[in-house]
Amino acid sequence: MNTEIDKKVDSLLKLMTIEEKVGQMNQYNGFWDVTGPAPEGGSAEKKYEHLRNGWVGSMLTVRGAKEVRAVQKIAVEETRLGIPLIIGFDVIHGYKTLSPIPLAEAASWDLKAIEKSASVAAAEASASGINWTFGPMVDIGRDARWGRVMEGAGEDPFLGSLIAQARVKGFQGDDLSAVNTIAACAKHFAAYGFAEAGKEYNTVDIGTSTLHNIVLPPFKAAAEAGVRTFMNSFNELNGVPVTGSSYLQRDILKGEWGFNGFVVSDWASINEMISWGHAKDKREAAKIAAIAGSDMDMEGNVYVEELAQLVKDGVVEEAILDDAVSRILKVKFELGLFDDPYKYCDETREKEVIGSKKHREAVLDMAKKSIVLLKNKNNLLPLKKEGQKIALIGALASDKSSPLGSWRIASDDETAVSVLEGMQKYTGNSLNYVKGPDVALETTTFLHEVKLNTTDTSGLEEAINAAKSSDVVVMVLGEYGFQTGEGRSRTNLQLPGVQQELLEAVYKVNPNIVLVLNNGRPLAISWADEHIPAIVEAWQLGTETGNAVAEVLYGDYNPSGKLPMTFPRNVGQVPIYYNYKNTGRPVDKDDNVFWSHYVDVDKTPLYPFGHGLSYTSFEYSDLKLNASTFSVNDDVQVSVTVTNTGKVEGKEVVQLYIRDLVGSITRPVKELKAFEMVTLQPGVSKTVNFVLNKEALGFYNNDGKYVIEPGDFKVFLGGSSDTVLEADFTLE
Ligand code: NOJ
Repeated sequence: MNTEIDKKVDSLLKLMTIEEKVGQMNQYNGFWDVTGPAPEGGSAEKKYEHLRNGWVGSMLTVRGAKEVRAVQKIAVEETRLGIPLIIGFDVIHGYKTLSPIPLAEAASWDLKAIEKSASVAAAEASASGINWTFGPMVDIGRDARWGRVMEGAGEDPFLGSLIAQARVKGFQGDDLSAVNTIAACAKHFAAYGFAEAGKEYNTVDIGTSTLHNIVLPPFKAAAEAGVRTFMNSFNELNGVPVTGSSYLQRDILKGEWGFNGFVVSDWASINEMISWGHAKDKREAAKIAAIAGSDMDMEGNVYVEELAQLVKDGVVEEAILDDAVSRILKVKFELGLFDDPYKYCDETREKEVIGSKKHREAVLDMAKKSIVLLKNKNNLLPLKKEGQKIALIGALASDKSSPLGSWRIASDDETAVSVLEGMQKYTGNSLNYVKGPDVALETTTFLHEVKLNTTDTSGLEEAINAAKSSDVVVMVLGEYGFQTGEGRSRTNLQLPGVQQELLEAVYKVNPNIVLVLNNGRPLAISWADEHIPAIVEAWQLGTETGNAVAEVLYGDYNPSGKLPMTFPRNVGQVPIYYNYKNTGRPVDKDDNVFWSHYVDVDKTPLYPFGHGLSYTSFEYSDLKLNASTFSVNDDVQVSVTVTNTGKVEGKEVVQLYIRDLVGSITRPVKELKAFEMVTLQPGVSKTVNFVLNKEALGFYNNDGKYVIEPGDFKVFLGGSSDTVLEADFTLE
């Protein structure tokens, strides 16, 4: 705890009126343009009036060194106490120069690269006046129907926790007051990812075990990494909208975990407690949220309208405001805003930093690392560099916007390197591009529904003809850029629109197809898996998409990504995840139907969590433990030998899973507990050592307490959750 800052916060707090305190707890929506009208109508002057009155502690959706300086100047020079604003923005996977979407980055399993990517985002955003990002999103996602799985790190709490920490470190650096770092925000607290049936903003009803063992760990990890803010969310949890949950915000976050930063609501989520039927009006909503520990009201204007009166009426204690405001001011001090409120408003720096060559290189590196090779029959990939006739097919292949994903808000449309452009740099082959049918009927925006093309197959014939006369066909298919993200749940996980028809038509004339997927969530592509020899998961890889994809297709980069989320065979299997429970009837013992399965599809996934191939192959051998029996305080030492048995250098993510066979709360069939990335030359072996301590072997019981229970365990090693080696040990 920084006592100097605490003292400054205390003295400032003593000077503040109730209204000024409430002002600090209000986050006002700037709607980009400081000179434009106020969000609630009226001229820009109205915006300034709010600022001048000290009704605003923070702004969001304002950006640009010049614009931020303008609003900051009013806060600092024209309000009674001159408290600077904290400027928030959704810097989700980059600011102007975009990295892959977060789910794609997670597929790299490369924590250093992910940290670097967040630091690039922070450098660009901070150069544009922003000092706080609404990221990382650390919601666990098990349901690919939910459009926001693209914003998280996938389905696993262990991997998700490490990635959460890497992102927090990347955004915040070692020194929050440095000019190139910004405050991070762990969101959405909590359980938003468990929205029933994957439907956006839906009810969440989960038990204590799932809450503590699956949902909360990445949040706790972010708190431990020093994340300065949390955001609550739109969902309810077991009947209580989380914005009004004292249990989550006061008992767990600020109590048990000792979090001393502040909590911001999600966009008007305080008001939404009225629609949920948890508060009867704005006054009650403000009361519930403030008491529950929501420190700042994002855009809902409920605190500014209601909170001061609630305090004067004795309904909300002023101490609640003092606590919230202290937390907010503390972060402002830590950011150095009181020393120099304009430190993030340097237009020269803005020009130099944003879109720099260094940043382009960093996001290209991240993009290559995020690609997952799902299938490569008969080594169709990598492509030969010369002498081939290649047909490149698909509207997404020349799309320069979709690869930017739906969170491209500070970036510009049409700025991604397309796959076509990336492939055109390899000139040894003849490349014939045919767009084929469109994926979407018209361009859309972050705010609006995508109008998919579900009927128009014009371009299909041309695609078929191109395929007929080529040696290899590269098809870029998948989701339109705005098909994932907030408000974009789907009930169908197949290739959207007429793309499946296109794929099958081309396959009929030339089955030598490399399918490059562009998407923001696991897709159900069973037909493709059965028929198409090579499948590359290329997600939405950001600004450098095409260059990254081309390098992988031509073998200049050997793919090493591993899926952070299970791919289902069909949507009916969803939610599907590797760390499921065994059930009482896991296998077909008696040759009848009475076991846990489906009658119409295999119960295994199409591609399991952790799956990903390389242009070389790896073999696992010699799994060893340093003993077979351990006491709770011992370290379990595990080693395994990994050999590159192929012909080229390759990188492998060596994954260690455990199973606790018997528990007072049933345990999953597998839990990821460690992984390491190794790079091996052909023919070379390496022994990889892991240590499992008591942090790895316990779990949270139904009282939310961490327990380690003696008993028998299994340990599994391999290159995916579909592991190849196993051993046993006992904990006494
Ligand atoms: C709503 C989203 O849920 C949240 O993630 C985002 O940060 C805010 N809007 C601000 O744009």
